Amino acid sequence: MTFVLGVETSCDDTSVAVVENGNRLVANHVSGQLDAHRRFGGIVPEGASRKHLELLLPLLDDVLHLAGIDITQIDGYAATAGPGLTGSLLMGMCCAKVLALVYDRPFIGVNHLEGHLFAPRLEQPDIQTPFVSLLVSGGHTSLYAVKEWGHYRLLGKTRDDAAGEAYDKVAKYLGLGWPGGPIIDEMAQEGNSDRFFFRGGLEEEASCDFSFSGIKTAVVRTFKNLSAREQKDTALLHDLAASFQEAVIRTLVKKTWHALLLTGYKQVVVGGGVAANRALRERIKKKGENEGYRIFFPSLSLCTDNAAMIAACGDFHLSRGERSPLTLEPDPRLPLGPTHTAFSPFH
Ligand code: KG4
Ligand code: ZN
Repeated sequence: MTFVLGVETSCDDTSVAVVENGNRLVANHVSGQLDAHRRFGGIVPEGASRKHLELLLPLLDDVLHLAGIDITQIDGYAATAGPGLTGSLLMGMCCAKVLALVYDRPFIGVNHLEGHLFAPRLEQPDIQTPFVSLLVSGGHTSLYAVKEWGHYRLLGKTRDDAAGEAYDKVAKYLGLGWPGGPIIDEMAQEGNSDRFFFRGGLEEEASCDFSFSGIKTAVVRTFKNLSAREQKDTALLHDLAASFQEAVIRTLVKKTWHALLLTGYKQVVVGGGVAANRALRERIKKKGENEGYRIFFPSLSLCTDNAAMIAACGDFHLSRGERSPLTLEPDPRLPLGPTHTAFSPFH
């Protein structure tokens, strides 16, 4: 495939991108809906799909303009087919399918999680398999053994909240705003992470499974036990944010290293919104460097949801001759399978 156009609408970000030859990012536009959802303190699914509908066509025009190509030059279309919010997924899939139909090009439905794995390839095309992948976002926290592109073995996942979800819930409870990840990341920079101690869920268990709801509850309980004056003490809140973040990061690092031990792999690829976290990036990179592992993080704009990674992943499957039927439906719980071949016509 030469030019693949990707569409991502699995949650609240609307994004359209064009990728050339699988790993050259030609144009990528992401239009977040944070302002629209902020006043509700979270994502409102119905509102998200309406917003996707509003944003998709102008984004498509912008991206083609930025790429400097005509739509007839697009060789294939890829859209996120799951996991995600059904109504949101429907918008992006519908858009890509209609374009594929009108311009007589192939269409492929892409697994959002597999898309995240492809994000670092857009900047470091030399990433070789095998590697351990830590996918850590608002909806997912899991570790995969990636034997080769297209072969994924789930090593472990969260048994309750995703890490990003814990960030968002803690921030909401403490009245810090939404989404919580970037806010707590910022506050933690100035906080003392030794002030409070929070035990990470399943931290001591020799497994690749995670649990974040216990840390979240412990932070909320600590906050509740503060006096009204303490609850308004900025320095104390920074310390609380830093201590919470420390427990999350310690758990993520421990489990990732457990996955390295299990697989014997020497590389780690991190993806998902929480991969934008400065302390997490620093900690994993430093530990990897000291112990001889290669660590890959996408740049910040490719950590969070974007269509470039969907186009890159779509190109991989389309180039292998895989196609999805135009009758393909969104699957809100779509798993990342062991031998992943996108979507066969019989899916
Ligand atoms: O991958 P993503 O854009 O959407 C999902 O698929 O969930 O991730 C969004 C999540 C949110 O929970 C947000 O709070 C978190 O990623 N996040 C962060 C940071 N930036 C975004 N968490 C920690 N530190 C950050 N800097
Ligand atoms: Zn995501």
